[in-house]
Amino acid sequence: MVKKLKKQLYPVARFFFDKYISKQRKYTYEGITIAIHEEVFPPKFTISTKILLEYIKPLDLKDKNFLELGCGSGIISLFAASKGAKVTASDINQTAIRILKEAAINNEISINVVYSDLLESLQNQQFDYIIINPPYYPKAPQNDKERAWFCGENFEYFEKLFLQLPHHLSPNTWMILSEDCEIDHIKQLAIKNGLFFKLILEKSVIREKNYIFQIEKS
Ligand SMILES: C[S@@+](CC[C@H](N)C(=O)[O-])C[C@H]1O[C@@H](n2cnc3c(N)ncnc32)[C@H](O)[C@@H]1O
Repeated sequence: MVKKLKKQLYPVARFFFDKYISKQRKYTYEGITIAIHEEVFPPKFTISTKILLEYIKPLDLKDKNFLELGCGSGIISLFAASKGAKVTASDINQTAIRILKEAAINNEISINVVYSDLLESLQNQQFDYIIINPPYYPKAPQNDKERAWFCGENFEYFEKLFLQLPHHLSPNTWMILSEDCEIDHIKQLAIKNGLFFKLILEKSVIREKNYIFQIEKS
């Protein structure tokens, strides 16, 4: 019922959403202000980024090695660094990389911003925390903007990620997913690579259930 309603409302919501983010806007969280570029995943109205921010808020991140894989706007990375973490923020979107480097300077926060296709440029690096808010709609992305949303027709993003992840897995490797996506299929892709999803948070926002999973070796 809720899914059906969402489907009907999607074109209208998408129209206003695209109109809103077609201009650069700003977003502030805990005193950190970033520019939102139209080519980059917008953290303001998307629920997932906010849930992750609130989840890491009470953690003692001082001196912890922290990776945000697919950092987008980088607000999570900047916030983690403001709490004392040693942060690496990676993305495949060069615009996101450029804007985040500027935001780090403007906020006087030190982070390492890296261009990387998943973990390819981070080989041999280990982290205490790995945070992933993945694209999960099964469609082939046509450009960088779409890479924030689409994981490939056959979930290629996850296929590749789960191949690489066992070499980097930390005790705190967390992925957020929504009930809107094909969670069981994504879990099966993980299992193929000896990975297991353990539920650590369930949160409903506007009747949409969101989950944070800890990814472990099975
Ligand atoms: C849903 S957005 C999340 C952005 C940010 N972590 C947040 O929570 O606001 C997914 C991000 O993953 C990035 N991404 C998609 N495919 C990627 C890949 N193969 N390697 C690295 N990053 C990728 C996108 O560019 C996008 O910034």
